[in-house]
Amino acid sequence: MRSPLTILVATMTGTAEMVAQEVQQVLEARGAEVELRMMDGLDAGAFGAGGFFLVCTSTYGFGNVPDNAQELIDSLEASRPDLSNVVYGVIALGDRTYGDTFCHGGTRFDQLLSSLGARRAGEMLQHDASSGELPEEVAPAWALDWVQQTGEPGSDASAADAGGSGQSSQSDRERSE
Ligand SMILES: Cc1cc2nc3c(=O)[nH]c(=O)nc-3n(C[C@H](O)[C@H](O)[C@H](O)COP(=O)(O)O)c2cc1C
Repeated sequence: MRSPLTILVATMTGTAEMVAQEVQQVLEARGAEVELRMMDGLDAGAFGAGGFFLVCTSTYGFGNVPDNAQELIDSLEASRPDLSNVVYGVIALGDRTYGDTFCHGGTRFDQLLSSLGARRAGEMLQHDASSGELPEEVAPAWALDWVQQTGEPGSDASAADAGGSGQSSQSDRERSE
């Protein structure tokens, strides 16, 4: 990945942060510039300049986002910024034993960001804590595949999309030169 990526982390007990760190490591090892930000204290301005974002969040209560994501959610819902310059992915941690609210934290972000004009690349990763697979082992491989679907300069999707989505900004092109 040639463009900078920001990973935004929402967690109650640290799993999502550990997953995000593993993703950061594997992407940086391939030359990507990755910033990891906990959502604590963030508001809609976190998306201000646009670009590439990966939301890594768990689910709590009855399908809620973790406490440290609430302020960001509230701010996005109140100010409803135009996020058409944002491309995002979602890593959603959950547990199928919670039934109908499985991975709703990730789904909440997905629906909100897309309602604000942001474009999701690829499918959301939904990890089931009762599956026996460790999310920090599954997520890095998923992230490598996701990067290919972002449409950023140099990715497979970019070649397929050329001239299509308009997501490849001039600054992206300048960075890739
Ligand atoms: C009290 C509690 C409530 C939870 N509620 C849900 C839920 O509604 N839906 C879901 O998919 N997972 C739910 N989970 C599972 C967590 O999202 C999952 O274990 C996740 O990996 C925790 O990540 P974290 O340590 O980053 O917060 C819940 C877990 C706990 C302990």
